[in-house]
Amino acid sequence: MHISVIGTGYVGLVTGACFAEFGVNVTCMDTDARRIARLEKGEVPFFEPGITELVAKGIKEDRLHFTTDVAKAVDKALVIFIAVGTPPKSDGSADLSYVEEVGRGIAKNMTGYKVIVTKSTVPVGTGEKLREVIKANQTGRFRFDIVSNPEFLREGSAIEDFMRPNRVVIGADSEQAVAIMKDLYRPLYLLETPIVVTDIPTAEMIKYASNAFLAVKISFINEIATVCEKVGADVQMVSKGMGLDNRIGNKFLHAGPGFGGSCFPKDLAALVQTGERVGYPFQIAGAAAKVNYEQHLRMVEKVKEACGGVKGKTLGVLGLSFKPNTNDMREAPSLTILSELMKEGATIRAYDPASMEESTKLLPGMVPCQDTYDVAEGADGLIIMTEWNQFRNLDFDRLKKSMRQPLLLDLRNTYESDRVVGFGFRHVSVGRPTKNPAA
Ligand code: UDX
Repeated sequence: MHISVIGTGYVGLVTGACFAEFGVNVTCMDTDARRIARLEKGEVPFFEPGITELVAKGIKEDRLHFTTDVAKAVDKALVIFIAVGTPPKSDGSADLSYVEEVGRGIAKNMTGYKVIVTKSTVPVGTGEKLREVIKANQTGRFRFDIVSNPEFLREGSAIEDFMRPNRVVIGADSEQAVAIMKDLYRPLYLLETPIVVTDIPTAEMIKYASNAFLAVKISFINEIATVCEKVGADVQMVSKGMGLDNRIGNKFLHAGPGFGGSCFPKDLAALVQTGERVGYPFQIAGAAAKVNYEQHLRMVEKVKEACGGVKGKTLGVLGLSFKPNTNDMREAPSLTILSELMKEGATIRAYDPASMEESTKLLPGMVPCQDTYDVAEGADGLIIMTEWNQFRNLDFDRLKKSMRQPLLLDLRNTYESDRVVGFGFRHVSVGRPTKNPAA
């Protein structure tokens, strides 16, 4: 089978490379000629474990091709995935102009029956809108079907998520399109992956409801963490105790500085906007977003309190990206937290294994460092902002020698306090009692 994927951003490229790995012939199309030229040489423009190898393999085995020509992408493909951006507009609603532009491009270049699939997160009703756009712009009278097949990829583990998903959602109103989509995902049958077949608006809603629910879980546990701090309880144990109830589940109950990334903040805003549009104010999504922003600010207060004010102080920061294994800085909690601390007069020395280039641009005034120990030089406190694995085994003796104060601000609850205080450090974490070393 031939398919094409329009848009070679994160979702598009992972989708294209993974389908090529499934044995399908894939053409990835993008209007950005420089990006396509780099991809043809196997150069991937973002950080994601395993993607470079998969792209190289697809190219070598002649199943993964790149083009800037929409006609080429449409011509042979039976299935066309749309994976272009849907950035938020100022009112929080998703900007669908790229999706519509692609729709027009497909319509003008159709040469036969096509299954046209939305892969990006698109508001409920986009499938129908796309159908209208294609109908209005078709030059020949070719049949086509619209499918909503939302992605649930997490950055940092996107390939694993694609290859071993919890479920595949197919929203369609044609049996032929459903059969073609099922065929495309055939390699997953071996894993007995559940396939949810439904109508288009329901599939679109599943994506928003899933992301909003995960975001709610995080904001919920972050609020519980704040209360835990006030009553002397330990949020890690609370999460564990809650998560063992399989109606709740143990995932996404990790307290921290609040969520970031390209999905949760944007999808919550879009859901609130959809609610307003249809005359129902979506309260829980709005509250999750508000709690999240306040959690970033609460971290600023936590650092200030632990340091006795930050004016004139130096703080070392480990990790800047919104989560480990990505260089993505979109909506990263570090952006709000560190800007505020710098505004309050702190000097920030920081290191991230993947996002130094991007974060240095986004956080003017921050001192970029080479590694963990460079960060700690003369620091009054060391903040773990993102839980990269390499920060899970710090050499505390070495850190202590170069720091001005032995203080660990563990915003991701990466360490057990006993271990940290054992090295003579004060351990401040989220939703757990602060522990001081024995005098
Ligand atoms: C998310 C969804 O998980 C994925 O299904 C969807 O397709 C895109 O959005 P992603 O944004 O890549 O994926 O990252 P995810 O692992 O979900 O983490 C999002 C944010 O939540 C991160 O900032 C992370 O640090 C934070 N988080 C996650 C917590 O603070 N606590 C948790 O328990 C889990």
